[in-house]
Amino acid sequence: MNNKAAAKVSFREKRTALLVLSVVAGGVLVFIYQSSDRAGSALVEVKVPGLSAIGQQGEAAFAKNCAQCHGENAAGGTGGPPLVHNIYNPGHHADGAFRLALQRGVPQHHWRFGNMPPQRHVGKDDANAIIAYVRELQAANGIVYQPHRMR
Ligand code: HEC
Repeated sequence: MNNKAAAKVSFREKRTALLVLSVVAGGVLVFIYQSSDRAGSALVEVKVPGLSAIGQQGEAAFAKNCAQCHGENAAGGTGGPPLVHNIYNPGHHADGAFRLALQRGVPQHHWRFGNMPPQRHVGKDDANAIIAYVRELQAANGIVYQPHRMR
């Protein structure tokens, strides 16, 4: 093999190596993006206040029915968003929106977790207690009523 041919081969090898490297790097980036999209970026830190009696009932009902998606203390999880989040302040999602969500479920719109299935097995009493619980958590974490503005 003369020098010219050798140079050609090594150029081709370098090009192949570069191609493989960029494919691998691209794959890693996509993986990081997807995993942060699913859970990490949605999780918030929640300070749990002393809860009222109804708040405590709500805490138990939430742990049983909602936490598997919305996370412990409504801080968000792999299957659903944090409810201790400004989006869910009482001015944007009033108590009625919570009741509707349980009755009808929620099509994916604010996040990318998929749809929320209806939660009709949750009785009226527990639903009210869960709403009180989430409002107490929100208030303790600085999430207060903000009038809803249409964009
Ligand atoms: C199987 C997973 C799952 C379970 C169980 C679940 N949720 Fe959800 N929930 C979601 C997802 C996902 C969304 C976000 C939909 C969006 O906006 O993209 C959501 C959104 C909501 C919303 C916002 C509604 C709106 O109008 O935007 C409320 C309120 C809510 N959930 C309350 C609850 C309560 C209370 C429970 C328990 C009784 C519960 N969820 C159980 C997945 C779940």
